[in-house]
Amino acid sequence: MAILAPSILSADLTNLAQQIRLTEMGGADWIHCDVMDGHFVPNLTFGPIIVDAVRRSTHLPVDVHLMIKNPDNLLEKFVKAGANYLTVHNEEVVHLNSTLNRITELGCKAGVAINPSTPVKSLENIAEFADLVLIMSVNPGFGGQSFIPSVLKKIEELVELRKKLNSKFLIEIDGGIDTKTILPALKAGVDVFVTGSSVFKSNNITAATIELKNILKANS
Ligand code: DX5
Ligand code: ZN
Repeated sequence: MAILAPSILSADLTNLAQQIRLTEMGGADWIHCDVMDGHFVPNLTFGPIIVDAVRRSTHLPVDVHLMIKNPDNLLEKFVKAGANYLTVHNEEVVHLNSTLNRITELGCKAGVAINPSTPVKSLENIAEFADLVLIMSVNPGFGGQSFIPSVLKKIEELVELRKKLNSKFLIEIDGGIDTKTILPALKAGVDVFVTGSSVFKSNNITAATIELKNILKANS
């Protein structure tokens, strides 16, 4: 079943628990947390303290996207804060195999992400060690950007790679997902859909969530 993971990057953080509740009422499946350090990406967001607040605000799986340099230094802290999925960027981690193994050893699902300009080929020797592979459909750093349609080809390549490896990792797409782009992404083979501004910047968070979920249900 397709999974919808609203990103709190676009939420009203003065009312975080209530915003999460509203999207839960619309059928959200996971909550996506965008951690940025101002070095790997040109934006600075939050760390384990907010992941902990999200953890204490929902029973949904907490999907943590680390857009940070040297994520190895903080893995334990994010798992302790309540991450259920912890995704690091292929472009940033030198010893990716040991990082994914470490996340798994900590009892958390391990994810690897690639930016729009990074080829799927770069995942050939690591994807089998991941529970989740995240394909960025915008350049990371900000919510509200436009979807990059050429990434749909990368999703199709990743579906082929998963078959070739006989793996079970989930395919996640992240960036610019709204009522227009979610269907092409589903058709290309995406399992998990991150969506920030199209839910949290809408004038009705619950209705916007329901609308996206209905598109997924009607076409899965
Ligand atoms: C961007 C983040 C995305 C972003 C999605 O760097 O990784 O998760 O918050 O937001 P929208 O859906 O507004 O593009
Ligand atoms: Zn993200």
